[in-house]
Amino acid sequence: MKNVLITGGCGFIGANFIHLIRSRHPDCRLVNLDKLTYAGSLKNLSGLEDDPRYRFVQGDICDGELVNCLFSEEKIDTVVHFAAESHVDRSIDGPAEFIRTNIMGTFTLLEAARKMWIPDPSPVTRHASRFLHVSTDEVYGSLGETGYFKETTPYDPRSPYSASKASSDHLASAYHHTYGLPVVITNCSNNYGPFQFPEKLIPLMIDNALHGKDLPVYGDGKNVRDWLYVEDHCSAILEVLQKGKPGETYNIGGNNEKQNLEIVMTICDLLDEMAPPLPDGRKRTSLIRFVTDRPGHDRRYAIDAVKIREEIGWEPSVTFEEGIRKTVRWYLENREWVEAVLDGSYREYYSKKYGK
Ligand code: NAD
Ligand code: TYD
Repeated sequence: MKNVLITGGCGFIGANFIHLIRSRHPDCRLVNLDKLTYAGSLKNLSGLEDDPRYRFVQGDICDGELVNCLFSEEKIDTVVHFAAESHVDRSIDGPAEFIRTNIMGTFTLLEAARKMWIPDPSPVTRHASRFLHVSTDEVYGSLGETGYFKETTPYDPRSPYSASKASSDHLASAYHHTYGLPVVITNCSNNYGPFQFPEKLIPLMIDNALHGKDLPVYGDGKNVRDWLYVEDHCSAILEVLQKGKPGETYNIGGNNEKQNLEIVMTICDLLDEMAPPLPDGRKRTSLIRFVTDRPGHDRRYAIDAVKIREEIGWEPSVTFEEGIRKTVRWYLENREWVEAVLDGSYREYYSKKYGK
């Protein structure tokens, strides 16, 4: 792990990962390839600009020429692939960009790695290199009230987002089987924490509740997600990079299932405690509104994380109570960041989706 290409490093998880790998492996060269879509911000990586072992390249993972050039110029031996279109609701409104970035972009990166790593059959190069493809538990579909997603659970993606991620997982796995590319796949549950774009459940609810706006809960609010603090996801990725076996998949989860309504109520209570009260003195839970459900809304996700615990020795270290308190505090202390990322195009998206 000398020259690491990180894709999507200006997004939520990618930025947290860059901060973590920089602190734990100060000698690695880090090359961050990010297109800077609405979801990516250079503000997530402020402080790194003058680091001589860090390079930011604004570009598209679908641009084969650029990707090939970076592989050879930087002698890339490790890829951590985060770049993706990541929001389910946007994939329902407009799937095309998800197909392009998530499928074609992953294909472009796999091809570049194959060209760079496979012609040289030296065992040293092969063992030195890793292509870690970051994916989601959503590829497994939706659970009923019981059961867990294991690495062997058949894929059953149900939104354009999860279908595009499933497709990219299959490509990554095929490159291992067919060409011997040293691919490792991680499928993680829902993340939360600093730098998450405020269109996702937790930061959206924090921002709306802070300002006394309606809190739009889809359907009956009883859909379940398995929440993991983002730093724990990033530490799992680092561990898998170093200890994971090529060709293997590792599920990553928080052992922390919660219904959406419970999450929203917790955020309301924390803001009542930590932020100025609403002008009319009402409790923030009074802002909750049940709105039309998301089409095809997956009911429950839950990860069986036994494999990563037993084979890699990783477990989450942050409890939900600690993580959600840290997250609310971060959003309260970083109002400038929130204002900067919520530009005009987001406000247009928001009013189109949620009305006034
Ligand atoms: P994000 O939307 O916050 O960030 C995505 C980043 O990718 C942005 O910086 C964006 O500019 C960049 N990007 C998008 N299209 C690109 C392109 N064509 N070329 C180069 N860069 C491009 O996403 P995130 O939440 O940080 O998720 C990162 C990865 O983790 C994704 O692959 C996602 O599927 C996966 N994942 C996310 C979660 C979660 O809860 N957020 C859970 C499990 C897995
Ligand atoms: P989200 O953060 O979009 O993640 P994902 O769809 O990838 O799990 O949504 C998390 C849950 O919160 C999901 O069940 C949908 C629900 N949700 C709402 O109820 N209201 C909202 O405004 C949003 C964005 C999500």
